[in-house]
Amino acid sequence: MRITPSPVHLFRGWGYPGFPGVSVKRAQRSSVFHSPEEMNVIPTRPLRVDIVTLFPEMLESVVSHSILKRAQEKGLLDVRAVDLRAFTTDRHKMADDSPFGGGAGMVMKPEPLVAAIEYLRPQVSAPRVILTSPRGAVYNQRRAEEFARESHLILLCGRYEGVDERVRAFITDDLSIGDYVLSGGELAALNVLDSVARLIPGVLGKEESAAEDSFTTGLLEHPHYTRPADFRGMTVPEVLLSGHHANVERWRREQSLRLTREHRPDLFASAPLTEADRRLLAQWDEENFGF
Ligand code: ADE
Repeated sequence: MRITPSPVHLFRGWGYPGFPGVSVKRAQRSSVFHSPEEMNVIPTRPLRVDIVTLFPEMLESVVSHSILKRAQEKGLLDVRAVDLRAFTTDRHKMADDSPFGGGAGMVMKPEPLVAAIEYLRPQVSAPRVILTSPRGAVYNQRRAEEFARESHLILLCGRYEGVDERVRAFITDDLSIGDYVLSGGELAALNVLDSVARLIPGVLGKEESAAEDSFTTGLLEHPHYTRPADFRGMTVPEVLLSGHHANVERWRREQSLRLTREHRPDLFASAPLTEADRRLLAQWDEENFGF
């Protein structure tokens, strides 16, 4: 597996060159600003994300493509896959052990996880130390926005039956990505990484802005259409072909409201609706349901 020049930096063991005291490769950013807006939105250093895992190779493909790749190339994101086995101290590099009290499965030992946290914690400043586990609070866009404002995230990927309970004394957040069980925390950590990276100012181009994303607005996003205008007899709503910008915006808002009410009544109940939104919905109901 390539170690460099991969965007994923792997700490492969205590003997890995540069460890301890691995030089933190800070991506250099230009200090030339072209507008006051740019000065306000560009963070002064990349968001550092350390993903501590027994399977660092699992992360590489996701981290090396598309928006995550671009965020690192732009110097806005510094992702490192940290091999947990590098923090074991025994001959067999054991990161798990059988549970006290008996029972099936293995438990992740506390020492390597806490050694990894204590090694990584001082490398930037005051990190969020996040354990991914089915027990955690369910992750959402608000939490992603919060993480995108941090300068350092340490994501710990659980495996087997879970981690030794005492590790929880060293974490700041316990996160689940949903009410289902994964084989390990790596996919959960990648969910967090991807959703946070797209919120870092400057990562998405203007045309891809996260401002209209589902959940950012508190509503689901409106439907999208592209060519052909007629696909197997299914046509694109007339208004989108009209070129009338205000009508297009109005239609999109109406669809967004309607879809959220229909598919996510929980979100709809707390969505910040304006008077104009309520009128739009009432009009839609009248046109479609006759009330
Ligand atoms: N590990 C196993 N299941 C998980 C879940 N649903 N969320 C986060 N981490 C997990």
